Amino acid sequence: MRENLQVAQATEDHHHQQQHKLATNLSSKLAKTRVTAKIHIFVLCIFLLISASLSWIFFTFVLGESRFQVTSVFTRDTNKSATTITNIPKTIPLNCTLLDNTTTQTCPSNYPTKFEPTISSSETCPGYFRWIQQDLKVWQETGITRETLEKAKPHAHFRVVIKSGRLYVDQYVKSYQTRDVFTIWGILQLLRMYPGQIPDLELLFLCYDKPAIWKRDFNKTRKDTWPPPPLFRYCGHRDAYDIVFPDWSFWGWPEVNIKEWKKLSVALQEGNRRVKWKDRIPYAYWKGNPHVSTPIRKELMRCNFSDNYDPMVRLYAQDWRSESKKGFKGSNLEDQCTHRYKIYIEGEAWSVSEKYILSCDSMTLLVKPEFHDFFIRSMVPMKHYWPIRQNSKCGDLKFAVEWGNNNTDKAQVIGRQGSDYIMKNLEMKYVYDYMFYVLQGYGKLMKLDVTVPENATEVCSETMACPITDGSRLIRQCMDDSLVMSPSVKAACNLPKPYGDYELKRILKRRQSAERKVMKWTDEYWNLRSGK
Ligand SMILES: *[C@@H]1O[C@H](CO)[C@@H](O)[C@H](O)[C@H]1NC(C)=O
Ligand SMILES: *[C@@H]1O[C@H](CO)[C@@H](O)[C@H](O)[C@H]1NC(C)=O
Ligand SMILES: *[C@@H]1O[C@H](CO)[C@@H](O)[C@H](O)[C@H]1NC(C)=O
Ligand SMILES: *[C@@H]1O[C@H](CO)[C@@H](O)[C@H](O)[C@H]1NC(C)=O
Ligand SMILES: *[C@@H]1O[C@H](CO)[C@@H](O)[C@H](O)[C@H]1NC(C)=O
Ligand SMILES: *[C@@H]1O[C@H](CO)[C@@H](O)[C@H](O)[C@H]1NC(C)=O
Ligand SMILES: *[C@@H]1O[C@H](CO)[C@@H](O)[C@H](O)[C@H]1NC(C)=O
Repeated sequence: MRENLQVAQATEDHHHQQQHKLATNLSSKLAKTRVTAKIHIFVLCIFLLISASLSWIFFTFVLGESRFQVTSVFTRDTNKSATTITNIPKTIPLNCTLLDNTTTQTCPSNYPTKFEPTISSSETCPGYFRWIQQDLKVWQETGITRETLEKAKPHAHFRVVIKSGRLYVDQYVKSYQTRDVFTIWGILQLLRMYPGQIPDLELLFLCYDKPAIWKRDFNKTRKDTWPPPPLFRYCGHRDAYDIVFPDWSFWGWPEVNIKEWKKLSVALQEGNRRVKWKDRIPYAYWKGNPHVSTPIRKELMRCNFSDNYDPMVRLYAQDWRSESKKGFKGSNLEDQCTHRYKIYIEGEAWSVSEKYILSCDSMTLLVKPEFHDFFIRSMVPMKHYWPIRQNSKCGDLKFAVEWGNNNTDKAQVIGRQGSDYIMKNLEMKYVYDYMFYVLQGYGKLMKLDVTVPENATEVCSETMACPITDGSRLIRQCMDDSLVMSPSVKAACNLPKPYGDYELKRILKRRQSAERKVMKWTDEYWNLRSGK
């Protein structure tokens, strides 16, 4: 975002000088052409109207229509390209004004429906983008027909329809807390970021933690089950077909006082600087809710105590209800970068806490996850985190902490590389770019007439945010903080080549071999201690 602003500022300085040049250039060119004088005057009038008014709407319209010209000019000649930089978006705040004599919020028509980014991207997207095609591959041959899509409906909380850049929602079930609200809000911000670039589509979204479309239930040889229904969710599993999408917390989780990611990641970086790694408590820290349906976190809590040795962990049960009463003073994430090691462990499925834990510069002790969110799949054990086995957590944790305290330089490097991964690869722009490519890829698979269902309602940032008044201040705060104020001047990053089968196997092998190495060290240590 900061980058966008700088770009906008730099180009704005240009803007006024270029305006003049543009005018002289164009008028001399026009003089050379042999068209009738009337047309000259007419065209000039229009041109002068445009440049005089400096209205970005006109520029968006004119340049947006001549797509080819803008891009080809930009890539061929840097001097001429300056003329395209007149395409600067104005910031467009929410317009909560109600129409005369109405009480219901309507979607305004002043937001551009089309915008051609002026700065083509020279950067390649982070490695985790390479999984997008993998997630969509199962529909590559068949596409997604109406029949295939509707099979996902019984699982879904809501349907999102995007048609001509407008978004419609048909809600079937209310989700837990505001997961659905912020998921839809996120897609709306994507539309504000890249107007005119998201294809028409229909998608079904499930807000639960666990996947629903298990591979074992679908088989290519059984035509009645094939292809599986496409269902969007927050995390995936190697045995499931669910499509992975960024979770609501990037736009906020007001119920537990978690701010939207852009603001929170800055706070985390500041919190991170407060205590130097070497001055941090040389123990592994975890704070969370142990009462989830799987036993894994309760097992973890038992690592807190041992008769025979110092278990090297500091584990705390988070009671959200009492935290909420105390105003969340004890649960600020940015105040939790106080230990050299931090534990990540799944709950019902993947946990939102992952990005917060990883961004502390503390070495993350990652209990082998069963599920994956969209960004974890390119993380490498012993580079970004230390792997912990599920079935011998306590022993693995103690060894990892002791090892880190014996090898502080190496442990610090792993901690920092983990945080760098999050801070660089999980910039909000990339989160939007990831959504952009998932939806573009998904949109290409649509083999149906995208239609707005009779019970769906059009939703925009105004209809979601404006009616929220004092009662849910935190919700409105998260929305205001994460509102995309203008189309992106910068195009989406360049999508890297998807993984081939061979590459995937190699990545898996490399991960396993790193994990095996750690396992061997750990077992040797414990065998020695028990005198085996
Ligand atoms: C751009 O314009 C400047 C001065 O107007 C000129 O010196 C320069 O050679 C031009 N560059 C290109 C790439 O045409
Ligand atoms: C805001 O919306 C109202 C009602 O739709 C409209 O009359 C007004 O012009 C809009 N304001 C801006 C700045 O677009
Ligand atoms: C709004 O209501 C007033 C009084 O009820 C009426 O005079 C006016 O014509 C209405 N305006 C519109 C745009 O409907
Ligand atoms: C699909 O069915 C075939 C034949 O019934 C079987 O050989 C194959 O293992 C099945 N595949 C999966 C993924 O269950
Ligand atoms: C774990 O141990 C720490 C320090 O010894 C203690 O403060 C904490 O309350 C314990 N947590 C649980 C869940 O027993
Ligand atoms: C750490 O160093 C101590 C003292 O040298 C040693 O006893 C212990 O085994 C070491 N632990 C690990 C995990 O390397
Ligand atoms: C639309 O909603 C009405 C009332 O809730 C319901 O009876 C109807 O079946 C719904 N239509 C569809 C297509 O789901």
